[in-house]
Parts: sequence; C-alpha cells; structure tokens
Amino acid sequence: MLRPTTPEDTDALVELTAGTGFFKPLEVETLREVLDDYHGGDADLGHRAFLWEEAGRALGYVYHAPAAMTDRSWYLYWIAVAADQQGRGLGGRLLAFVEQDIRDNGGRLLLIETSSTPHYEPTRRFYLKHGYALAATVPDYYADGDGMVVFSKRLLPPAG
Ligand SMILES: CC(C)(COP(=O)(O)OP(=O)(O)OC[C@H]1O[C@@H](n2cnc3c(N)ncnc32)[C@H](O)[C@@H]1OP(=O)(O)O)[C@@H](O)C(=O)NCCC(=O)NCCS
Repeated sequence: MLRPTTPEDTDALVELTAGTGFFKPLEVETLREVLDDYHGGDADLGHRAFLWEEAGRALGYVYHAPAAMTDRSWYLYWIAVAADQQGRGLGGRLLAFVEQDIRDNGGRLLLIETSSTPHYEPTRRFYLKHGYALAATVPDYYADGDGMVVFSKRLLPPAG
C-alpha cells in the first residue's frame, strides 16, 4: 500500500536507507533532517514524501519536490527500496507513482542526481530503463573520483 509518510515513519526510513549500503553516513543523517523539515513545514511548500508499506513494514519510499526558481521542474531527491526487496519491481512502481504525482501537480521536467561510481551502475541502469536521459555529468562533484550524474525526463511535451 502506498501512503504519505508520517513523523512516526522516520526511524524506519532512515534504517531502510542505511541498510541499502548505498548511502554514506552523512547522507543517511541528512535524510533524517530532510524528513524532520518535511513534517516541520516543507510539506506545506509542496514537497512530497510517500512510502510503500506491506504488513506494517516500509519496503521503499520516495521524496520529490519542485525545483526552486524554475518553471515547473521537479527533483526526485530520494528513492530507496529495502535491500531484501530490490529487483522485484517496487522501485519501478514507486518511480511511476512519482511521475504521475508530479504531472498531477503540474510538473514539466523531472531531474534525478546520482553518483558516477561503479557501485551505482545498477541505479543508473534503473533510470535508463525507465526512459531517463543522461543530461549531465559533473566529474568529482561528491568527492574526487565520485562525480554527479544528472538524469532527466520530460513529463509534459515541450511548449510550442
Ligand atoms: C535503485 C532502486 C530504487 C531500484 O528499485 P528496485 O525495486 O530494486 O528496482 P526494480 O525491481 O523496479 O527494477 C529493476 C531494475 O532496476 C535496476 N536495478 C537497480 N538496482 C537493482 C538491484 N539492487 N537489484 C536488481 N535490479 C536493480 C536493474 O536495471 C533492473 O532491471 P533488470 O532486472 O532488467 O536488470 C533500488 O534498487 C535501491 O534502493 N537501490 C539502492 C539505493 C539507490 O541507489 N537509490 C537511488 C539513489 S539516486
């Protein structure tokens, strides 16, 4: 069942994220701050956070928000599926939900940033498989040898 996150979900989502083995400790702590800020007011600014729950357990979640100072561009800031649930289609379902949710909120373009390292190769494959274009790379962005890869997908056709 897909549902909006509540403050009571935060510990479980932080634990799920750490358990994927993909995120650095600083990133995991940042997620806690992001969720605290979300429930503290960012939801009122149009940020969106949802999780997939089965038998009372969060199996995956997404966090997306409009990009400030743009005309209806959005960012998918977080997407993660529990380590023991990956590769079963849940991430694809969550991504499809995000795209529809952004369309329903008038969004035009969706951007996703990820790492260029070999560890993230399956993640990059996931976005390519779902129709995302490789829009940019910034070498050494996160750290030396760890660049940023930006994927993009139009959710509305170009104007004109
Ligand atoms: C990336 C992620 C959200 C995808 O969700 P998922 O439920 O595992 O993916 P799905 O089952 O819907 O789709 C599987 C496809 O995604 C890719 N993929 C990415 N990670 C995968 C994994 N751990 N296991 C299997 N497939 C994976 C493959 O291309 C696969 O397609 P294929 O089977 O044709 O090769 C999830 O694997 C995850 O949480 N990864 C770790 C955290 C992460 O990288 N988050 C994004 C940060 S930008």
